[in-house]
Amino acid sequence: MGGFLVLGANGLIGRSVGRKLEGKCEWLGTYYKRKEPSLISVDITSVNGLEEVFGEVKPSCVVNCANLAGGVDFCERHPGLAEEFHLEANISIGRLCEKYDSRMVLISTDYVFDGRNAPYKEDDEPNPLNIYGRLKLEAEKWLINNVSKYTIVRTTNVFGWDPTTVTPNYIMSLYRAIKDNKQFKAPSFLWGNPTYVDDLASALIELCSNEIDGVFHVVGSSFVNRYQWAKKTCRFAGWDESLIIQMRSVPDNMVPRPLRSNLDAGKFRNLCKTKLTNVEEGIRSFVKSMNEE
Ligand SMILES: NC(=O)c1ccc[n+]([C@@H]2O[C@H](COP(=O)([O-])OP(=O)(O)OC[C@H]3O[C@@H](n4cnc5c(N)ncnc54)[C@H](OP(=O)(O)O)[C@@H]3O)[C@@H](O)[C@H]2O)c1
Repeated sequence: MGGFLVLGANGLIGRSVGRKLEGKCEWLGTYYKRKEPSLISVDITSVNGLEEVFGEVKPSCVVNCANLAGGVDFCERHPGLAEEFHLEANISIGRLCEKYDSRMVLISTDYVFDGRNAPYKEDDEPNPLNIYGRLKLEAEKWLINNVSKYTIVRTTNVFGWDPTTVTPNYIMSLYRAIKDNKQFKAPSFLWGNPTYVDDLASALIELCSNEIDGVFHVVGSSFVNRYQWAKKTCRFAGWDESLIIQMRSVPDNMVPRPLRSNLDAGKFRNLCKTKLTNVEEGIRSFVKSMNEE
């Protein structure tokens, strides 16, 4: 295996990818605002910055784990910035991957679908309902048409212990609310596949190591709603589940998104060895990491 470049290596997914690569192969990780001594600083929206790091590392594989803080809501409010980050930066990274003969890994999303015809296979018709989903889909299409070695992984509801996060994943938000003795609103109208972060990281590395091109759905094996997921977590972790308030209907001001976007990971499972665990196993791993700290 050659050298990996992990962009956004201090985020939820990037940190897990870095941990799994450590000691196994050469890799270099980047941060953006939250400085870390073992990582170098790169802004993926700066073509010059990207050129510099590519020239230095000459990576065999680039995993773009950078994310725009504020997520889907921020993208909807700032479409220009969202396009610069989720489309144009991926185009810059893709061009450099072509130049350096590197594999590019794009982490895409279930939000490319509208959620009306789940479960979804990779070739099912996309129909994004919001700006984030539309930009990810455009980035996917650009990569497929312009980059020789590409791996696109669509995932969703990624969770893991990430105490220094600025954009907390669902279970980190739950943890923080319960710790502060605050109520936590959990929508029972929002269904998805909770995906434990270390499973996703192993899957990304397996696909890259085996130089597998294409689009893959990589998600946990359970399909649950957010309310069920929060309840299960509290029961397992011994947290006060009476603080969870069920939200039964879609709020008027919610950015449109697929409400039932079950992704079928059969293509990945048939080709790869990494196990994609269920929600209970993921919660167990989350709690174990939390207790180890
Ligand atoms: N989490 C999910 O459920 C999920 C689902 C589907 C797809 N994805 C995709 O997976 C990727 C990673 O998501 P995540 O949840 O792991 O992200 P995250 O935890 O929010 O981490 C974001 C990372 O991006 C870095 N970053 C922010 N702005 C940057 C910039 N301008 N240039 C370079 N790096 C920048 C941050 O560095 P600093 O902290 O140092 O600023 C941090 O390392 C994203 O592309 C996201 O769309 C995530």
